[in-house]
Amino acid sequence: MVSRVIPVAPFDLVIFGATGDLARRKILPGLFHRFAVGQMPDAARIIGVARTDMDESAFRADVQAGLSEFVPQAAGNSEMLSRFLDRIGYVRVDATGDEGWSALRDVLRADVVRAFYLSVAPSLFGAIAARLHDHGIATAESRIVVEKPFGHDLDSARALNVDLRQSFDEHQIYRIDHYLGKETVQNLMALRFANSLWEPLWNATHVDHVQITVAESLGVEGRGEYYDRVGAMRDMVQNHLMQLLCLIAMEPPSRFTPNAVRDEKVKVIGSLEATALGDIVRGQYRARGDEKSYRDDAGNRASRTESFVAMKVNIGNWRWAGTPFYLRTGKKMRARSSEIAVVFRDPPHMIFPRMEGRRGNALIIRLQPNEGITLRNTIKEPGPGGFRLAEVNLDMTFADALDQQGDPQDAYERLIMDVFRGDQTLFMRGDEVEAAWAWADPIIAQWEEAGLTPSGYDAGSSGPEDALMLMHRDARRWREIE
Ligand code: BG6
Repeated sequence: MVSRVIPVAPFDLVIFGATGDLARRKILPGLFHRFAVGQMPDAARIIGVARTDMDESAFRADVQAGLSEFVPQAAGNSEMLSRFLDRIGYVRVDATGDEGWSALRDVLRADVVRAFYLSVAPSLFGAIAARLHDHGIATAESRIVVEKPFGHDLDSARALNVDLRQSFDEHQIYRIDHYLGKETVQNLMALRFANSLWEPLWNATHVDHVQITVAESLGVEGRGEYYDRVGAMRDMVQNHLMQLLCLIAMEPPSRFTPNAVRDEKVKVIGSLEATALGDIVRGQYRARGDEKSYRDDAGNRASRTESFVAMKVNIGNWRWAGTPFYLRTGKKMRARSSEIAVVFRDPPHMIFPRMEGRRGNALIIRLQPNEGITLRNTIKEPGPGGFRLAEVNLDMTFADALDQQGDPQDAYERLIMDVFRGDQTLFMRGDEVEAAWAWADPIIAQWEEAGLTPSGYDAGSSGPEDALMLMHRDARRWREIE
Protein backbone atom coordinates (compact mmCIF):
# COMPACT_ATOMS: atom_id res chain seq x y z
CA MET A 1 0.00 0.00 0.00
CA VAL A 2 1.37 3.41 -0.92
CA SER A 3 0.74 5.99 1.76
CA ARG A 4 -0.15 9.49 0.75
CA VAL A 5 2.18 12.15 2.07
CA ILE A 6 0.81 15.65 2.28
CA PRO A 7 3.56 18.21 2.95
CA VAL A 8 3.03 20.50 5.91
CA ALA A 9 3.35 24.27 5.56
CA PRO A 10 6.87 25.76 5.83
CA PHE A 11 8.00 26.20 9.43
CA ASP A 12 10.77 27.36 11.71
CA LEU A 13 11.20 24.76 14.43
CA VAL A 14 13.33 25.82 17.36
CA ILE A 15 14.55 22.90 19.47
CA PHE A 16 15.64 23.82 22.97
CA GLY A 17 17.95 21.11 24.32
CA ALA A 18 19.02 20.37 20.76
CA THR A 19 22.21 18.60 21.82
CA GLY A 20 20.37 16.32 24.26
CA ASP A 21 19.44 12.69 24.04
CA LEU A 22 15.81 13.03 22.97
CA ALA A 23 16.66 15.41 20.13
CA ARG A 24 19.38 13.06 18.92
CA ARG A 25 17.42 9.84 19.25
CA LYS A 26 13.90 10.87 18.33
CA ILE A 27 13.22 14.42 17.22
CA LEU A 28 15.94 14.88 14.58
CA PRO A 29 15.68 11.33 13.18
CA GLY A 30 11.89 11.80 13.01
CA LEU A 31 12.29 15.06 11.11
CA PHE A 32 14.80 13.47 8.76
CA HIS A 33 12.30 10.67 7.96
CA ARG A 34 9.57 13.19 7.24
CA PHE A 35 11.96 15.17 5.06
CA ALA A 36 13.00 12.04 3.18
CA VAL A 37 9.37 11.17 2.33
CA GLY A 38 8.60 14.72 1.28
CA GLN A 39 6.42 15.78 4.19
CA MET A 40 8.81 18.38 5.58
CA PRO A 41 9.05 21.00 2.84
CA ASP A 42 12.30 22.46 1.53
CA ALA A 43 11.29 25.83 2.93
CA ALA A 44 11.24 24.44 6.50
CA ARG A 45 14.08 25.10 8.93
CA ILE A 46 15.25 23.62 12.19
CA ILE A 47 17.12 25.83 14.62
CA GLY A 48 18.97 24.05 17.37
CA VAL A 49 19.28 25.92 20.63
CA ALA A 50 21.45 24.98 23.59
CA ARG A 51 23.95 26.43 26.03
CA THR A 52 26.92 24.84 24.28
CA ASP A 53 29.18 27.29 22.52
CA MET A 54 29.36 26.04 18.94
CA ASP A 55 28.65 27.31 15.47
CA GLU A 56 26.23 26.13 12.84
CA SER A 57 28.68 23.79 11.13
CA ALA A 58 29.64 22.12 14.42
CA PHE A 59 25.97 21.57 15.21
CA ARG A 60 25.31 20.18 11.73
CA ALA A 61 28.21 17.76 12.23
CA ASP A 62 26.66 16.73 15.55
CA VAL A 63 23.26 16.16 13.90
CA GLN A 64 24.92 14.17 11.13
CA ALA A 65 26.68 11.94 13.69
CA GLY A 66 23.36 11.38 15.50
CA LEU A 67 21.56 10.52 12.27
CA SER A 68 24.17 8.00 11.23
CA GLU A 69 23.75 6.33 14.60
CA PHE A 70 19.94 6.29 14.72
CA VAL A 71 18.90 6.37 11.06
CA PRO A 72 21.03 3.83 9.22
CA GLN A 73 19.56 4.72 5.82
CA ALA A 74 20.65 8.37 6.23
CA ALA A 75 24.29 7.47 5.61
CA GLY A 76 23.38 5.75 2.36
CA ASN A 77 21.60 8.78 0.99
CA SER A 78 24.19 11.54 1.07
CA GLU A 79 22.29 13.86 -1.26
CA MET A 80 19.20 13.74 0.97
CA LEU A 81 21.32 14.08 4.08
CA SER A 82 23.08 17.18 2.88
CA ARG A 83 19.78 18.76 1.77
CA PHE A 84 18.42 18.07 5.25
CA LEU A 85 21.50 19.47 6.99
CA ASP A 86 21.25 22.63 4.87
CA ARG A 87 18.00 23.41 6.69
CA ILE A 88 19.64 23.33 10.11
CA GLY A 89 20.92 26.30 12.09
CA TYR A 90 22.16 26.85 15.61
CA VAL A 91 21.88 29.63 18.15
CA ARG A 92 23.50 29.61 21.56
CA VAL A 93 20.97 30.74 24.14
CA ASP A 94 21.07 30.92 27.90
CA ALA A 95 17.65 29.58 28.90
CA THR A 96 17.59 31.30 32.26
CA GLY A 97 19.56 34.42 31.35
CA ASP A 98 19.43 37.12 28.67
CA GLU A 99 22.07 35.93 26.27
CA GLY A 100 21.20 34.77 22.79
CA TRP A 101 17.51 35.69 22.71
CA SER A 102 17.80 38.59 20.32
CA ALA A 103 19.98 36.50 18.00
CA LEU A 104 17.25 33.87 18.04
CA ARG A 105 14.60 36.47 17.23
CA ASP A 106 16.66 37.69 14.29
CA VAL A 107 16.96 34.30 12.61
CA LEU A 108 13.23 33.54 12.69
CA ARG A 109 11.06 34.35 9.70
CA ALA A 110 7.81 36.26 10.00
CA ASP A 111 5.77 34.40 7.41
CA VAL A 112 6.06 30.74 8.49
CA VAL A 113 4.70 28.61 11.33
CA ARG A 114 6.86 29.01 14.45
CA ALA A 115 7.20 26.11 16.85
CA PHE A 116 9.33 25.88 19.98
CA TYR A 117 10.12 22.35 21.13
CA LEU A 118 11.21 22.28 24.78
CA SER A 119 13.29 19.15 25.05
CA VAL A 120 14.64 20.29 28.40
CA ALA A 121 13.96 19.70 32.10
CA PRO A 122 10.44 20.82 33.09
CA SER A 123 11.99 23.22 35.61
CA LEU A 124 13.03 25.33 32.57
CA PHE A 125 9.60 25.42 30.85
CA GLY A 126 8.44 28.58 32.62
CA ALA A 127 11.73 30.46 32.16
CA ILE A 128 11.92 29.69 28.44
CA ALA A 129 8.24 30.42 27.77
CA ALA A 130 8.56 33.79 29.54
CA ARG A 131 11.65 34.78 27.56
CA LEU A 132 10.08 33.76 24.25
CA HIS A 133 7.22 36.04 25.14
CA ASP A 134 9.22 38.94 26.60
CA HIS A 135 11.69 39.07 23.71
CA GLY A 136 8.83 39.19 21.21
CA ILE A 137 9.84 35.83 19.72
CA ALA A 138 6.55 34.05 20.35
CA THR A 139 3.72 35.34 18.18
CA ALA A 140 0.01 34.69 18.65
CA GLU A 141 0.27 31.85 16.10
CA SER A 142 3.40 30.24 17.58
CA ARG A 143 3.24 26.78 19.15
CA ILE A 144 5.12 25.44 22.12
CA VAL A 145 5.77 21.72 22.56
CA VAL A 146 6.62 20.23 25.93
CA GLU A 147 7.77 16.78 26.87
CA LYS A 148 6.93 14.62 29.81
CA PRO A 149 7.24 14.43 32.72
CA PHE A 150 4.53 17.06 32.97
CA GLY A 151 4.78 17.46 36.72
CA HIS A 152 5.41 15.05 39.53
CA ASP A 153 2.01 15.49 41.13
CA LEU A 154 -1.06 17.69 40.82
CA ASP A 155 0.53 20.76 42.40
CA SER A 156 3.61 20.72 40.19
CA ALA A 157 1.51 20.07 37.05
CA ARG A 158 -0.71 23.03 37.95
CA ALA A 159 2.34 25.21 38.46
CA LEU A 160 3.69 24.23 35.03
CA ASN A 161 0.34 25.02 33.45
CA VAL A 162 0.26 28.40 35.14
CA ASP A 163 3.80 29.15 33.96
CA LEU A 164 3.14 28.17 30.36
CA ARG A 165 -0.20 29.98 30.19
CA GLN A 166 1.41 33.22 31.26
CA SER A 167 3.03 33.36 27.84
CA PHE A 168 0.97 31.00 25.63
CA ASP A 169 -2.73 30.24 25.22
CA GLU A 170 -3.92 26.68 25.70
CA HIS A 171 -4.49 26.31 21.94
CA GLN A 172 -0.76 26.99 21.43
CA ILE A 173 0.47 24.41 23.97
CA TYR A 174 1.27 20.88 22.77
CA ARG A 175 1.93 18.46 25.67
CA ILE A 176 3.43 15.27 24.33
CA ASP A 177 2.44 11.78 25.41
CA HIS A 178 4.24 9.76 22.77
CA TYR A 179 1.81 6.85 23.21
CA LEU A 180 -0.80 8.94 21.42
CA GLY A 181 1.47 9.09 18.40
CA LYS A 182 1.65 5.30 18.07
CA GLU A 183 -0.28 4.06 15.04
CA THR A 184 -2.15 1.35 16.93
CA VAL A 185 -3.14 3.71 19.69
CA GLN A 186 -4.71 6.00 17.12
CA ASN A 187 -6.29 2.94 15.65
CA LEU A 188 -8.28 2.47 18.86
CA MET A 189 -10.35 5.46 17.80
CA ALA A 190 -10.80 4.15 14.26
CA LEU A 191 -11.76 0.72 15.55
CA ARG A 192 -14.34 2.12 17.92
CA PHE A 193 -15.76 5.02 15.97
CA ALA A 194 -15.48 3.96 12.34
CA ASN A 195 -17.20 0.58 12.85
CA SER A 196 -20.75 -0.12 13.90
CA LEU A 197 -19.90 -3.62 15.06
CA TRP A 198 -18.46 -2.87 18.46
CA GLU A 199 -20.45 -0.03 19.93
CA PRO A 200 -23.53 -2.13 20.89
CA LEU A 201 -21.24 -4.49 22.83
CA TRP A 202 -18.95 -1.82 24.28
CA ASN A 203 -20.40 -1.59 27.77
CA ALA A 204 -20.77 -3.34 31.12
CA THR A 205 -23.67 -5.47 29.88
CA HIS A 206 -21.41 -7.29 27.45
CA VAL A 207 -17.84 -6.67 28.56
CA ASP A 208 -16.69 -8.70 31.56
CA HIS A 209 -13.43 -6.81 32.03
CA VAL A 210 -10.63 -5.04 30.17
CA GLN A 211 -6.92 -5.80 30.54
CA ILE A 212 -4.32 -3.24 29.58
CA THR A 213 -0.74 -4.48 29.59
CA VAL A 214 2.39 -2.50 28.76
CA ALA A 215 5.28 -4.85 29.45
CA GLU A 216 8.86 -3.87 28.74
CA SER A 217 11.77 -6.26 28.61
CA LEU A 218 14.33 -3.51 29.23
CA GLY A 219 15.23 -2.24 32.68
CA VAL A 220 15.91 1.35 33.68
CA GLU A 221 18.81 1.59 31.18
CA GLY A 222 21.01 4.33 32.54
CA ARG A 223 18.05 6.41 33.77
CA GLY A 224 18.20 4.81 37.21
CA GLU A 225 18.72 7.98 39.13
CA TYR A 226 15.75 9.71 37.53
CA TYR A 227 13.52 6.66 37.53
CA ASP A 228 14.15 5.92 41.17
CA ARG A 229 12.56 9.25 42.07
CA VAL A 230 9.56 8.52 39.87
CA GLY A 231 8.58 4.84 39.64
CA ALA A 232 6.20 3.06 37.28
CA MET A 233 3.06 4.77 38.54
CA ARG A 234 4.31 8.23 37.57
CA ASP A 235 6.44 7.13 34.63
CA MET A 236 3.84 4.98 32.84
CA VAL A 237 0.43 4.66 34.53
CA GLN A 238 -0.52 8.31 35.13
CA ASN A 239 0.16 9.11 31.48
CA HIS A 240 0.51 6.29 28.94
CA LEU A 241 -1.79 3.67 30.48
CA MET A 242 -4.28 6.36 31.43
CA GLN A 243 -4.44 7.47 27.80
CA LEU A 244 -5.09 3.91 26.68
CA LEU A 245 -7.81 3.49 29.29
CA CYS A 246 -9.43 6.73 28.15
CA LEU A 247 -9.48 5.73 24.49
CA ILE A 248 -11.14 2.42 25.36
CA ALA A 249 -13.60 3.84 27.88
CA MET A 250 -14.56 7.23 26.44
CA GLU A 251 -17.95 8.05 24.95
CA PRO A 252 -17.99 8.63 21.20
CA PRO A 253 -17.09 12.29 20.66
CA SER A 254 -19.58 14.22 18.55
CA ARG A 255 -16.84 15.10 16.06
CA PHE A 256 -13.18 14.38 15.51
CA THR A 257 -11.84 17.66 16.78
CA PRO A 258 -9.19 18.19 19.44
CA ASN A 259 -11.51 19.51 22.10
CA ALA A 260 -14.39 17.12 21.44
CA VAL A 261 -12.00 14.17 21.84
CA ARG A 262 -10.24 15.59 24.86
CA ASP A 263 -13.50 16.56 26.59
CA GLU A 264 -14.54 12.90 26.50
CA LYS A 265 -11.19 11.74 27.88
CA VAL A 266 -11.36 14.19 30.75
CA LYS A 267 -14.83 12.85 31.61
CA VAL A 268 -13.46 9.31 31.86
CA ILE A 269 -10.65 10.37 34.19
CA GLY A 270 -13.17 12.26 36.29
CA SER A 271 -15.28 9.10 36.58
CA LEU A 272 -12.50 6.89 37.95
CA GLU A 273 -13.31 5.61 41.40
CA ALA A 274 -10.76 5.84 44.18
CA THR A 275 -8.50 2.79 44.12
CA ALA A 276 -8.04 0.97 47.42
CA LEU A 277 -4.58 -0.23 48.44
CA GLY A 278 -5.83 -3.83 48.22
CA ASP A 279 -6.46 -3.36 44.49
CA ILE A 280 -2.87 -2.37 43.71
CA VAL A 281 0.27 -4.45 43.46
CA ARG A 282 3.65 -2.76 43.26
CA GLY A 283 6.64 -4.79 42.26
CA GLN A 284 10.39 -4.42 41.96
CA TYR A 285 12.56 -6.77 39.93
CA ARG A 286 15.13 -9.02 41.52
CA ALA A 287 18.36 -10.28 40.01
CA ARG A 288 18.08 -13.46 37.99
CA GLY A 289 20.91 -15.15 36.10
CA ASP A 290 22.94 -12.41 34.43
CA GLU A 291 20.24 -9.86 34.99
CA LYS A 292 20.90 -7.35 37.74
CA SER A 293 18.29 -6.33 40.27
CA TYR A 294 16.39 -3.06 40.08
CA ARG A 295 18.26 -1.81 43.11
CA ASP A 296 21.59 -2.42 41.39
CA ASP A 297 20.37 -0.86 38.14
CA ALA A 298 19.06 2.18 40.00
CA GLY A 299 22.13 2.43 42.22
CA ASN A 300 20.03 2.55 45.36
CA ARG A 301 20.36 -0.49 47.62
CA ALA A 302 17.44 0.57 49.80
CA SER A 303 15.08 1.66 47.04
CA ARG A 304 11.36 1.16 47.53
CA THR A 305 10.49 2.45 44.07
CA GLU A 306 8.21 0.24 41.99
CA SER A 307 9.35 -0.99 38.58
CA PHE A 308 5.97 -2.74 38.16
CA VAL A 309 2.38 -1.82 38.91
CA ALA A 310 -0.79 -3.85 38.51
CA MET A 311 -4.11 -2.45 39.55
CA LYS A 312 -7.83 -2.85 39.31
CA VAL A 313 -9.61 0.32 38.32
CA ASN A 314 -13.35 0.90 38.39
CA ILE A 315 -15.04 3.51 36.28
CA GLY A 316 -18.08 4.92 37.99
CA ASN A 317 -20.33 5.72 35.08
CA TRP A 318 -23.35 4.19 33.38
CA ARG A 319 -21.38 2.50 30.62
CA TRP A 320 -18.76 0.79 32.77
CA ALA A 321 -20.11 0.24 36.30
CA GLY A 322 -19.38 -3.42 37.14
CA THR A 323 -16.69 -3.88 34.47
CA PRO A 324 -13.24 -3.52 36.01
CA PHE A 325 -10.21 -2.37 34.04
CA TYR A 326 -7.03 -4.18 35.07
CA LEU A 327 -3.85 -2.28 34.28
CA ARG A 328 -0.35 -3.71 34.38
CA THR A 329 3.03 -2.35 33.40
CA GLY A 330 6.57 -3.22 34.32
CA LYS A 331 10.21 -3.19 33.39
CA LYS A 332 12.37 -6.29 32.94
CA MET A 333 9.37 -8.45 32.11
CA ARG A 334 9.63 -11.62 30.08
CA ALA A 335 8.86 -9.87 26.80
CA ARG A 336 8.18 -6.46 25.29
CA SER A 337 4.50 -6.72 24.74
CA SER A 338 1.74 -4.15 24.93
CA GLU A 339 -1.87 -4.96 24.31
CA ILE A 340 -5.43 -4.26 25.31
CA ALA A 341 -7.81 -7.18 25.77
CA VAL A 342 -11.54 -6.51 25.90
CA VAL A 343 -12.94 -9.73 27.39
CA PHE A 344 -16.64 -10.35 26.81
CA ARG A 345 -19.12 -12.03 29.14
CA ASP A 346 -20.14 -15.63 28.63
CA PRO A 347 -23.38 -16.41 26.81
CA PRO A 348 -26.26 -16.16 29.30
CA HIS A 349 -27.27 -19.79 28.82
CA MET A 350 -24.78 -22.42 27.70
CA ILE A 351 -26.30 -25.43 25.95
CA PHE A 352 -22.96 -27.20 25.39
CA PRO A 353 -20.87 -29.19 27.85
CA ARG A 354 -18.47 -27.10 29.89
CA MET A 355 -15.23 -26.48 28.13
CA GLU A 356 -12.10 -26.93 30.20
CA GLY A 357 -9.97 -23.78 30.27
CA ARG A 358 -12.52 -21.67 28.40
CA ARG A 359 -11.49 -18.03 28.31
CA GLY A 360 -14.37 -16.61 26.36
CA ASN A 361 -14.70 -14.12 23.55
CA ALA A 362 -12.12 -11.40 23.52
CA LEU A 363 -10.99 -8.62 21.25
CA ILE A 364 -7.25 -8.19 21.62
CA ILE A 365 -5.57 -5.13 20.24
CA ARG A 366 -1.79 -5.55 20.05
CA LEU A 367 -0.07 -2.21 20.37
CA GLN A 368 3.51 -3.42 20.00
CA PRO A 369 5.25 -5.36 18.67
CA ASN A 370 3.44 -7.17 15.86
CA GLU A 371 0.66 -4.58 15.78
CA GLY A 372 -2.71 -6.05 14.98
CA ILE A 373 -6.05 -7.36 16.17
CA THR A 374 -7.16 -10.79 17.33
CA LEU A 375 -10.72 -11.86 17.90
CA ARG A 376 -11.07 -14.95 20.04
CA ASN A 377 -14.04 -17.11 19.08
CA THR A 378 -15.49 -20.43 20.18
CA ILE A 379 -16.14 -23.03 17.50
CA LYS A 380 -16.94 -26.72 17.34
CA GLU A 381 -13.77 -28.75 17.34
CA PRO A 382 -13.83 -30.52 13.98
CA GLY A 383 -14.05 -34.29 13.84
CA PRO A 384 -16.15 -37.10 15.21
CA GLY A 385 -16.61 -38.16 18.80
CA GLY A 386 -19.17 -35.78 20.21
CA PHE A 387 -19.69 -32.06 20.24
CA ARG A 388 -16.58 -30.48 21.69
CA LEU A 389 -15.78 -26.79 21.68
CA ALA A 390 -12.49 -25.12 20.93
CA GLU A 391 -11.29 -21.53 21.02
CA VAL A 392 -9.66 -20.13 17.91
CA ASN A 393 -8.32 -16.75 16.92
CA LEU A 394 -9.30 -14.59 14.00
CA ASP A 395 -5.99 -12.90 13.64
CA MET A 396 -4.55 -10.07 11.62
CA THR A 397 -1.51 -7.90 11.72
CA PHE A 398 -1.73 -4.43 10.25
CA ALA A 399 1.49 -5.02 8.32
CA ASP A 400 0.01 -8.04 6.49
CA ALA A 401 -3.45 -6.64 6.07
CA LEU A 402 -2.19 -3.40 4.57
CA ASP A 403 0.86 -4.89 2.90
CA GLN A 404 3.10 -2.43 4.68
CA GLN A 405 6.79 -2.94 4.36
CA GLY A 406 9.70 -1.38 6.14
CA ASP A 407 9.99 1.22 8.78
CA PRO A 408 6.69 2.32 10.32
CA GLN A 409 6.35 5.99 11.21
CA ASP A 410 7.65 6.65 14.70
CA ALA A 411 5.26 8.20 17.22
CA TYR A 412 7.34 11.39 17.41
CA GLU A 413 7.24 11.94 13.67
CA ARG A 414 3.49 11.92 13.62
CA LEU A 415 3.21 14.19 16.62
CA ILE A 416 5.71 16.76 15.36
CA MET A 417 3.92 16.99 12.01
CA ASP A 418 0.63 17.52 13.89
CA VAL A 419 2.21 20.52 15.62
CA PHE A 420 2.87 22.14 12.23
CA ARG A 421 -0.63 21.23 11.10
CA GLY A 422 -2.00 22.85 14.24
CA ASP A 423 -3.84 19.71 15.31
CA GLN A 424 -3.93 19.15 19.08
CA THR A 425 -6.07 15.98 19.04
CA LEU A 426 -3.15 13.75 20.02
CA PHE A 427 -1.80 16.10 22.68
CA MET A 428 -2.86 16.34 26.28
CA ARG A 429 -4.83 19.34 27.36
CA GLY A 430 -3.85 21.04 30.62
CA ASP A 431 -6.99 19.97 32.49
CA GLU A 432 -6.51 16.41 31.30
CA VAL A 433 -3.02 16.15 32.79
CA GLU A 434 -4.22 17.70 36.01
CA ALA A 435 -7.16 15.28 36.22
CA ALA A 436 -4.80 12.32 35.78
CA TRP A 437 -2.59 13.59 38.60
CA ALA A 438 -5.63 14.23 40.79
CA TRP A 439 -6.41 10.52 40.36
CA ALA A 440 -2.84 9.25 40.83
CA ASP A 441 -1.81 11.41 43.80
CA PRO A 442 -4.02 9.79 46.48
CA ILE A 443 -2.98 6.33 45.29
CA ILE A 444 0.70 7.19 45.68
CA ALA A 445 0.03 8.95 48.98
CA GLN A 446 -1.69 5.83 50.34
CA TRP A 447 1.26 3.56 49.76
CA GLU A 448 3.77 6.14 50.90
CA GLU A 449 1.80 6.54 54.12
CA ALA A 450 1.62 2.79 54.61
CA GLY A 451 5.40 2.58 54.04
CA LEU A 452 4.94 -0.37 51.68
CA THR A 453 7.86 -2.19 50.12
CA PRO A 454 7.18 -3.47 46.59
CA SER A 455 6.80 -7.23 46.06
CA GLY A 456 9.77 -8.86 44.38
CA TYR A 457 9.64 -10.47 40.95
CA ASP A 458 12.37 -12.15 38.95
CA ALA A 459 13.85 -10.13 36.11
CA GLY A 460 12.47 -11.68 32.93
CA SER A 461 9.24 -12.95 34.55
CA SER A 462 5.57 -11.92 34.32
CA GLY A 463 5.69 -9.86 37.49
CA PRO A 464 4.98 -10.61 41.14
CA GLU A 465 2.70 -13.45 42.27
CA ASP A 466 0.40 -10.93 43.96
CA ALA A 467 -0.41 -9.49 40.56
CA LEU A 468 -1.77 -12.88 39.48
CA MET A 469 -3.84 -12.96 42.65
CA LEU A 470 -5.38 -9.60 41.82
CA MET A 471 -7.16 -11.39 38.99
CA HIS A 472 -7.54 -14.86 40.51
CA ARG A 473 -9.56 -13.58 43.42
CA ASP A 474 -12.06 -12.20 40.88
CA ALA A 475 -12.03 -15.59 39.06
CA ARG A 476 -10.20 -14.02 36.12
CA ARG A 477 -6.70 -14.31 34.74
CA TRP A 478 -4.17 -12.21 32.97
CA ARG A 479 -3.22 -13.04 29.44
CA GLU A 480 0.26 -14.44 29.05
CA ILE A 481 2.97 -11.91 28.31
CA GLU A 482 4.67 -13.30 25.21
C1 BG6 B 1 8.61 6.55 28.52
C2 BG6 B 1 9.06 6.11 29.87
O1 BG6 B 1 7.67 7.58 28.62
O2 BG6 B 1 8.05 5.44 27.83
C3 BG6 B 1 10.06 4.97 29.78
O3 BG6 B 1 9.65 7.20 30.56
C4 BG6 B 1 9.47 3.85 28.96
O4 BG6 B 1 10.41 4.49 31.06
C5 BG6 B 1 8.94 4.37 27.62
O5 BG6 B 1 10.49 2.89 28.73
C6 BG6 B 1 8.20 3.28 26.87
O6 BG6 B 1 7.92 3.72 25.58
P1 BG6 B 1 7.79 2.70 24.35
O7 BG6 B 1 7.45 3.58 23.21
O8 BG6 B 1 9.12 2.02 24.23
O9 BG6 B 1 6.71 1.75 24.72
